[in-house]
Amino acid sequence: MNLIQNPYSRNPQSLAGDWHYIIDPYETGFYDLFGNENPFGYFRNLTPDDHWASEYNFKQSPTMKVPGDWNTQEPTLLWYEGTLWYFRELPDAEVDGGRTFLRFCAANYHSIVWVNAIEVMRHTGGFTPFETEIGSYLKRTGNFVVAKINDERLKDGVPTRNTDWWNYGGITRDVLLIKTPQSFIRDYFCQLDPEDDSQIKGFVELDNGANKDVNLSIPGLGIEHLITTDSHGFGQFAIKAEPDRWSPENVALYEVRFSIDGDSIEDIIGFRIIETSGEDILLNGEPVFLRGISIHEEIIGQASRVNSEAEARRLMEEVKALGCNYARLAHYPHNDHMCRIADEMGVLLWCEIPVYWAINWQSEEVLHNARNQLSEMIVRDRNRASIILWSVANETPVSEARTEFLKSLITTAKSLDPTRLTTAAMFMRPDKVEENGKVIRTYTLDDPLADHLDVLGCNQYLGWYYTKVSDIALSRWHSDKNKPLIMSEFGASAPKGKRGGPHDRWTEDYQVTVYEAQFAMMDDIPFLRGLSPWILKDFRTPKRPLAGVQDYFNRKGIISDQGERKLAWDTVHAYYKKRSSG
Ligand code: GCU
Repeated sequence: MNLIQNPYSRNPQSLAGDWHYIIDPYETGFYDLFGNENPFGYFRNLTPDDHWASEYNFKQSPTMKVPGDWNTQEPTLLWYEGTLWYFRELPDAEVDGGRTFLRFCAANYHSIVWVNAIEVMRHTGGFTPFETEIGSYLKRTGNFVVAKINDERLKDGVPTRNTDWWNYGGITRDVLLIKTPQSFIRDYFCQLDPEDDSQIKGFVELDNGANKDVNLSIPGLGIEHLITTDSHGFGQFAIKAEPDRWSPENVALYEVRFSIDGDSIEDIIGFRIIETSGEDILLNGEPVFLRGISIHEEIIGQASRVNSEAEARRLMEEVKALGCNYARLAHYPHNDHMCRIADEMGVLLWCEIPVYWAINWQSEEVLHNARNQLSEMIVRDRNRASIILWSVANETPVSEARTEFLKSLITTAKSLDPTRLTTAAMFMRPDKVEENGKVIRTYTLDDPLADHLDVLGCNQYLGWYYTKVSDIALSRWHSDKNKPLIMSEFGASAPKGKRGGPHDRWTEDYQVTVYEAQFAMMDDIPFLRGLSPWILKDFRTPKRPLAGVQDYFNRKGIISDQGERKLAWDTVHAYYKKRSSG
């Protein structure tokens, strides 16, 4: 069964707050001396008074905030990668005939969870939710939860060992106790039908709800529709409707309510159609140009993982202020709030799973992991009008195994959600031709993966990596894919306040030079339909040690990690103003 849809509108109890923790680099709390899983592990929550073998005591251990990455809460943990144990007491169980689910909105990377010393779930992946039913494990009083979170980077991980972002560990998003009746509305999907946009189409899935009547109500459209579920509690619908179409210029949102005897759930949904036609991206049948920016999920001014609605909103406000109608959420599913805020603010989204650089393409287990993260992302967010693109990969080396791996992810995305477009951030193939004594640099989009995508994404750093800024003007782009291109990354590094001449690298001035040259080049790419410069904000990364300049931050932001706008912010803002005025 799928994850519970839209848990926040079930008035869940948040377990946010101070959780006790134990740092355990040797996994003493999990394995015995010989590496076998230890039945006396820390999940038992035993103190020395309880048992001679116990040399820990959660309640005497320090605390940290959940949700929140551990790296920026405790200086000694900034670089820590390994296992950390979390403990907190749970509220007394209510005997009300209902059901109780425990949901982690995300924890990086590998999680094992126990309730009252009984293992209830394991999860792999740092950016998607996982949950399970715990009612039967709860006692009247004295309940507790223990979570073992390990964020070691693995060769066979997704992502793998090498990434250009900080490996923030821990319970990075909210933990919820979700109460439901015995029979409840577990999942639903409600969107305009891309095959026939005169109707709203979708499904509803009940938990413990075979052959039941579900009422679907959309008051804003005068819709009251009855769905009867099958023996599995599953029901489909297709209803003639003419909703006001959602778009960045017109954030038309509708209250949508599913109800059965004893349960109901409400959502706020926008209805829109997204498709391609040749080299165009069509939103509600109209060509659209995506004026975007790439974003990492880091708090402005704090450089730690976003873990609240307010911090997510702050990022999206900067996106709007820049004049964007689009954003790329890189390189992993961002928090639950981001897409809802984008619905509200009218920002189209590219969402991605961390299939990044050199994944182990041959491994079935790795494919299963990637597919699972993709499914969890799509199931969590597929009712969000703002999301138009599912990206299955970023900058992956061309090989047959890789392309087969990614094709299978594309199939999964389409089967879970036929209403959106698929994409990936690829490289172009550089070449040179001589014309009238001038060397023209040509860039061709012919990655074999392109044939299997709806929209092509291309990352390039002309003027920063591999070419001089002066070469940009002598560039020519080719594609015979008859598909739209999004320039998913480009940019240059400059710490805030570092000034110099227009050609002095690592200065704000040079960053402007690169953007101006890039934009002039973009204006000449006939199949270009969108941009997401790298990147909104300077972000933390272990791969950038240049002292006094990077200091373990990627400085390609057009705002600093403190939120100060750099000169290039104005360059991008002005270009988008020009683009939006057509
Ligand atoms: C890559 C990659 C980013 C990285 C960027 C950079 O393209 O996708 O994750 O941060 O380049 O080099 O700054």
